[in-house]
Amino acid sequence: MRLNTLFRRKSVAHILASARNEREQGAQMRQELNVRDLTAFGIAAIVGAGIFSTIGNAAAAGGPAVSLLFIFSAIACGFSALCYAQFASSIPLSGSAYTYAYASFGELMAWIIGWDLIMEYAVGNIAVAISWSGYFCGLLQGFGINIPEFLTIDYLSASRGFNEASQLLAGGALLTELPGELAEAYQAWITAPSPGGFRLIADIPAFGIVVFITWLVYRGIRESKRASNIMVLLKLTILLLVIAVGAFYVNPENWSPFAPNGIGGVLKGVSGVFFAYIGFDAISTTAEECKNPQRDLPRSMIYSLIITTILYVAISLVLTGMVSYHLLGVSDPLAYVFNKLHLTRFSGIIALSAVIAMASVLLVFQIG
Ligand code: ALA
Repeated sequence: MRLNTLFRRKSVAHILASARNEREQGAQMRQELNVRDLTAFGIAAIVGAGIFSTIGNAAAAGGPAVSLLFIFSAIACGFSALCYAQFASSIPLSGSAYTYAYASFGELMAWIIGWDLIMEYAVGNIAVAISWSGYFCGLLQGFGINIPEFLTIDYLSASRGFNEASQLLAGGALLTELPGELAEAYQAWITAPSPGGFRLIADIPAFGIVVFITWLVYRGIRESKRASNIMVLLKLTILLLVIAVGAFYVNPENWSPFAPNGIGGVLKGVSGVFFAYIGFDAISTTAEECKNPQRDLPRSMIYSLIITTILYVAISLVLTGMVSYHLLGVSDPLAYVFNKLHLTRFSGIIALSAVIAMASVLLVFQIG
């Protein structure tokens, strides 16, 4: 293979001509999406595990000033969205960054970016599905339904957790003293059926939701759009309710000092806050299913960033106002804060909202 073939580029005119050709041969996607649907897709992909989980550690390190970090990160994401917007209007085709890289850098870079996209959407969805499963099982437990541990954890986590827990137990610790995740892994390992010596352990809810969402995506863009619109409406309603109720319990003294650990503390939350914004780019993969991609894609990316930034800033201010920031370093800060103030009814609502929010992230990433 000649080295320069690695860098051969497809010109924009060539890419557009092949797409036109495919359309003429009947390989046309249904053009269903308008700016409202695309904005809903953007919000569906953005608001997920980030705001239900990673915001906790960011707020614990940075204090109430983490709300400003959400604004700065949104501005940075906004610049990235403008780049997407520019590309999406020049090459309004599916493929997103893969197609853009083919046109601007050539084959090798496009190949790398193609795999990056698979990492972001497919591999990213593994993490989201596992997180979804945790919240879903918690929700079922609230209704008195318990799924056996060996059906809610993956094999490797169970095996590693079992080994770690065994060492602690051998050192004299009691099972009830083990951290929750280790105790679950231990239970899963010892209770799993093991025909032929192989333990049957799998995270069935995580697998189930991915199969269900994939089926929905396969049904078509119209069905996916409807599901996304409904889920976004539900999750926005619940989050706004959480903000409105939480606002009554804010004690402004908790906002002082505003940045207890200085800029260094605030910046510790950067990765978590950026994670909370990932997803606005996913809507560019739907370019061929948009009614007017040149106009609607850029607008919807910016709209979804603005809406989620307002939401994130409000949630971070309410959370850090309800309790002292240093208590927020937990994996489920929203539920934790409401439980702490004895508003236990809300933890069920938050779990439901998390389940819906993460399912919508799965949906848009799976479309991507
Ligand atoms: N932004 C997405 C989330 O927070 C990935 O779950």
